[in-house]
Order: sequence, then structure tokens, then C-alpha cells
Amino acid sequence: MRKPILAANWKMHKTIGEAVAFAKAFAPLVADVTGAEIVIAPPFPALAAVGAALRGTHVLLAAQNVHPEKQGAFTGEVSPPMLVDLGCAYAIVGHSERRHIFGEASAFVARKAAALLAHGVRPIVCVGETLEEREAKRTFAVLEEQLRGSLAEVAIEQAADVVIAYEPVWAIGTGRTATPAIAQEAHAMIRSWLQTSFGAAGDAMRIQYGGSVKPDNVSVLMAEPDIDGALVGGASLDAASFAGIVRYQEKSK
Ligand code: PGA
Repeated sequence: MRKPILAANWKMHKTIGEAVAFAKAFAPLVADVTGAEIVIAPPFPALAAVGAALRGTHVLLAAQNVHPEKQGAFTGEVSPPMLVDLGCAYAIVGHSERRHIFGEASAFVARKAAALLAHGVRPIVCVGETLEEREAKRTFAVLEEQLRGSLAEVAIEQAADVVIAYEPVWAIGTGRTATPAIAQEAHAMIRSWLQTSFGAAGDAMRIQYGGSVKPDNVSVLMAEPDIDGALVGGASLDAASFAGIVRYQEKSK
């Protein structure tokens, strides 16, 4: 059984004060949810304060990015040991905004994922096609290329610690969610690629869907057999809204 994983990706939102206020309001709303992993990825400046506010809860902390080196002359970057120091359980790598706005290639994403695993931080590796690629019927080819490149340095024994986030670029921040059938089709392809590459561990790996997930569409997405969680941007910025997403099972009836 794969434990569902619901993660908030705040992107470049919230000051430290706003982030702490969210954490304090949010944790009690999900205190009784034990069947899923709940993760919040605040921007770097708020990690320490959110970590402190979440202490004693079961909500886990994540970073939105990392640099693969341990330390050195990399102005503006943050290393895996620094994330460990902050208490991060997860870090997002290869988000489409990093790939498309900051020009990050899969080979660089692969180094980040490997560095995180070496330090005991679990990577959430994002993949997803653009609208142009989907319309050109290149979705599977693009996903395969991104998976192969981004997971190139993951060993079979480490694979179960890796979470994949399928985020079609055309669905991110657009309000245009993939239908459950479209998402499941991509997730099934990703699942079969993971099984071929990592054997039994490919069955254990969680695959999140991301792209305009909201409290009112999360349960139909989660009902699909290969959708094991959600990576949520816009709808995770409000405590009640993200709590509604985490409590998706209550909406499925
Ligand atoms: P969205 O973002 O929920 O605002 O579409 C998802 C993401 O980019 O992770």
C-alpha cells in the first residue's frame, strides 16, 4: 500500500509571519489525519520558523529546491546539509518553473535528487509536458526523457524514497486541471516506466498529480489507481483550503 502524500508548494509566497500564522492555523485542522503524509514547502526564509511552529505535529517540512553540492562558492544556493539542519524531510526538485524559467536540465535535477538521497532527504521529482508537447502527441516521450534524465543517479535501493510529481505544465496555476482520466493515463505510463527501471520498488513509489488541484477536485483525482497524492500550489496558500485537500477522503462519498 502506498501512503498518500499531500504536499503544499508555496512557491514565492508568504513572509515568515504569514507562514507561521498558516502553520499554527493549519496543524490543528489536520491533527487527526493519520492515513496520509502531509508536507509543506515554504520559501527558504520561512523554513526555520515553520519547522519550529510544526514541531510536535505530524506535518512534515520540505524545501522547494536545493543545490547538489555540500558547500562552496555557490552564491545564493542552499545545500542538502542545510536542509537537514532545518529538519526538512523532503525537497522538491525539477519543478517546471525551475526547468522553464531557470533553465534547469534533467541532468542537474538528477544531481540534486542524488545529493538529497545521500543526506537522507527525500526528493519530490517533478516531470510534466507543455501544452505544445501534448498537442504534438509527445507527452509520453517527454515524460520518459525527463524520468530517465532526472532519476539517472537513483539506485534501486533508494527508489522507494523518491516521490514523483506529474505536473502537466498547462495545468499549473491555470485553473485547468487535467481530467482524472488524462492524469491517470500519464501516471500509468510513469508507473510502468518506474517498474521497468526499479523493479518492485517501482510499485512502492508514490506519484503525485499537480496542476490546479483544489478541495473540490482532489477526491476524484485521488480515486485513480496510480495517483498517490497531490502537489498543490495556489490552493495550498490558505489553511482551510489545504486542509480540505488533505481531508479529501471525506469528500469522496
Ligand atoms: P497549482 O501549482 O496548484 O497552483 O497549479 C502546482 C505546482 O506548481 O506545484
